[in-house]
Amino acid sequence: MRASHPTDHRADAADPADRPPAAPADRQEPCPADGLRPAVVDRDVSAAVGRVLGQVLSEHLARARALDPLFARDVADRVARFTLDGGKRLRSGIVWWTLRACGGRDELSARAALRTGAALELIQTCALAHDDLMDGARTRRGRPALHAAVAAEYRRTAPDGRSERLGEAAAILAGDLALAWADDLIADTVVPQRATRRVRELWRDMRTEMVAGQYLDVQGQATRSHAVPQAVRAATLKSALYSVERPMALGAALAGADQATTTALCAAGRCAGLAFQLRDDLDDLFADPDRTGKPPGGDIRNGKPTYVFTVARAWAETAGDLGALAVLDEAYGRADLPDSALDAVRRVLVTTGALQAVEDRIGRLARCAVGQLRSARLDPAGGAELERLLLRVAGLPTARPAAGPQRAAPVAETEGAGR
Ligand code: IPE
Ligand code: IPE
Ligand code: MG
Ligand code: MG
Ligand code: MG
Repeated sequence: MRASHPTDHRADAADPADRPPAAPADRQEPCPADGLRPAVVDRDVSAAVGRVLGQVLSEHLARARALDPLFARDVADRVARFTLDGGKRLRSGIVWWTLRACGGRDELSARAALRTGAALELIQTCALAHDDLMDGARTRRGRPALHAAVAAEYRRTAPDGRSERLGEAAAILAGDLALAWADDLIADTVVPQRATRRVRELWRDMRTEMVAGQYLDVQGQATRSHAVPQAVRAATLKSALYSVERPMALGAALAGADQATTTALCAAGRCAGLAFQLRDDLDDLFADPDRTGKPPGGDIRNGKPTYVFTVARAWAETAGDLGALAVLDEAYGRADLPDSALDAVRRVLVTTGALQAVEDRIGRLARCAVGQLRSARLDPAGGAELERLLLRVAGLPTARPAAGPQRAAPVAETEGAGR
């Protein structure tokens, strides 16, 4: 579901999260006449987050336009459009459904969860604007990446490479702006008093973790690291934490979940979060680019030490498979790699068993996540939604397995996803 552009939103409403009007099925929810109705949000969380973003961003854009129209057009407007128009809105969905799984239904926590989710979508805008610049990726969400879009706009008026430099600078500034707006949104959000400190700590840690992970990622790329543990660590820090574990911890904190529930949810989030990045790494080579909105093979052409690549290389080395090693090493970091050589890499990932090993690990991580969720005392409807969401995050079918033993996942897999 796409959110509306900021100029579309209805500024006359008391709160952007209040629409659409409640249906009869929501009568059992406590809801002041002009208040936020969690059951209404349940029907379309992405749209509710979009309405919060619409209002917040229209205010920022008005200020940006008053400040300087050129800055507003080239940078602020792009941040707003990128945040409003696309993405799966995973992180905001996770905050919401964790809140609901933990029984959160009061208006204050619900409003805080939507605003926290909206702030996470702004963090995502920051992360992606900077990531595409660092990864030299020119396409995002099926459209030109932010730096590429600015460069294209200025190709005629700033020739000789100057438009590319401008695009890079604009993407850095756009990412900074998105981060600042995310922080502003969190700072302006009233949270239940019991959660104030925890939310502040989680938000603080999450931002630094992501920066640390992104650094490990580019450092591994620059030094041609082939170390499997560094690949897992980078995946956890750059992605698993801010994408899944921290959003779950934020939702649990806002709901006032007890310690045992929070611990189980965070373990589930860590497992599903790592599965999410391992899936993203596989998608780089094996998914339909129309679905991912990203061209294939970027990780190989960049020489990214992804988990699947480091596993394939380690196994080829152990097996003394010189042919496989040659294919991998010749492709790794070759920006002009032809598609036929990319196909050869795909074949090596299959023949070394690395592809299957990563699929197996994703499966174990997903079972770990589901086991942890089922070990917690959750609201049945909210818990089921959260379970479906975590399976979707791992790129697995979301049909709920038949009721079986409600066991927590093996500790080893939980630790395997750890920091
Ligand atoms: C992409 O995240 C970046 C990673 C951490 C792998 P998403 O796959 O959630 O991207 P959008 O927001 O849906 O575009
Ligand atoms: C991105 O990881 C992580 C962050 C944005 C923090 P990737 O570089 O693998 O993400 P994609 O594949 O470009 O979406
Ligand atoms: Mg990238
Ligand atoms: Mg990256
Ligand atoms: Mg990726």
